[in-house]
Amino acid sequence: MTEEQLRAACALAAEAMAEYYRLLPGRPIMPATTSRALRDLLEEPLPREGSELAPLIDAIRRDIFPNSRQNAHPRFFGYVQSPGTPAGVIGEMLAAVLNANVTCWRSAPAPTEVERIAVNWIKQILGYPPAAEGLFVSGGSMANFAGLAAARTVKAPEALQHGMGGQRLRVYVSEEAHFSVSKAAALIGIGRENVRRVATGADFRMDVAALERAIGEDLRAGHTPCCVVANAGAVSTGAFDPLGAIAAVARRHGLWLHVDGAYGGFAALAPEARPFFDAIAEADSVALDPHKWLYLPMGCGCVLYRDPAAARAAFSHFAEYTRPVGWRDDEAFAFWDYGPELSRPFRALNVWLLLKYAGTRALGEAVSRNIACARYVGRLIEASPDLELMAPVELSIFCFRVAPPGFTGDLDALNERILVELQRQGSSYLSNASLRGRFALRGCVLNYRTSEAEMERLVEDVRRAARAVLAEG
Ligand SMILES: Cc1ncc(COP(=O)(O)O)c(C=O)c1O
Repeated sequence: MTEEQLRAACALAAEAMAEYYRLLPGRPIMPATTSRALRDLLEEPLPREGSELAPLIDAIRRDIFPNSRQNAHPRFFGYVQSPGTPAGVIGEMLAAVLNANVTCWRSAPAPTEVERIAVNWIKQILGYPPAAEGLFVSGGSMANFAGLAAARTVKAPEALQHGMGGQRLRVYVSEEAHFSVSKAAALIGIGRENVRRVATGADFRMDVAALERAIGEDLRAGHTPCCVVANAGAVSTGAFDPLGAIAAVARRHGLWLHVDGAYGGFAALAPEARPFFDAIAEADSVALDPHKWLYLPMGCGCVLYRDPAAARAAFSHFAEYTRPVGWRDDEAFAFWDYGPELSRPFRALNVWLLLKYAGTRALGEAVSRNIACARYVGRLIEASPDLELMAPVELSIFCFRVAPPGFTGDLDALNERILVELQRQGSSYLSNASLRGRFALRGCVLNYRTSEAEMERLVEDVRRAARAVLAEG
């Protein structure tokens, strides 16, 4: 590609990007299509010969963009989904220009320093100790995996060499924990059945007395309590576990405290959420997801370790071909000593770029607006006789259901149908949760474009979907 061709291709790509953002608010969030229709549209023989970039960029605009779920739409409230930002798109592109492999300092000198700086900034956002270390990983699941692997190594260092033998390490999570925690426990050999789900109170936060009881039972049974995982924003309800009280229990029993802040960690940017983080410095490890509430594009999680030596014990691995021959001190630093990956993309560039471009003040204001929108819709729901709020709105997640006055049928089945109808109509998008066995419509405000007017429109859209379902009988 000549320089001139590169400029022309970038101009086309920039036009596709600008058009995407222009058309976004008017697009259905979920395309009205099928797998078969998309295969008919997209399937082609393996290309033997190359082609021009211009028609390919056109195909992306025409066939792929509109036939996708529009995660950046201001009324997309499903799961825990970042909308991405135009600055993030530019960061991704420039990181790909460099195509750094951020394994260690000698492989990527400036990217390594940028990652250290970005991680230090995240520590400051959280109020985490300056001596902590951390790194970017692919997402929250991998950050939880890394935290648990460090916990396992501290409690059972011999397991790295010999496996777990018959030892039963126990991990304590609230019943609202994300499934990635059990998955990590399974993968590192602790085993799913050694993950104890501790009851939550009416506010869906971990019941600390129940945690204490569970640890006591396990000790009496001869098991080895290893780690408590606290939610800094549970995925279904946004509930924030009481970190201080949990930390006190963990310390008393010598357990590792891992905080899953994949959803709620960046709520620390908002002054009204700060008190939740008062005891965050007591966590031994923290999982965060810049690709959630830092509005960055997919593929960027972060794990922090209070004691870097614990991470090194879990992850460092000697291999002759990666030995830092000729380098010492800071220049001998390697990320593979702190996490599971060897080859790693330059994830930090986007974190660095966004924090510098937007600044923490504007980001904090955006997070605050998201929280305010969720609380606003919570109030709208509470004031509506046909809607029922199912959990307190702690951060930016809200759970509710349609409960028409006088309706005597199955509310779970009714709301499931309403969810499908809402998604099909394409104007607003919610996902679902199960709260104490009851089906809930669940939304998460995670988009800086979302305003209170969007929340009002969501309520109208839910009512429209409910009317359609009830009319069908
Ligand atoms: C609380 C929590 N933990 C972990 C995860 C997993 O994060 P990821 O999807 O980035 O792997 C999520 C995802 O929504 C989450 O909400």
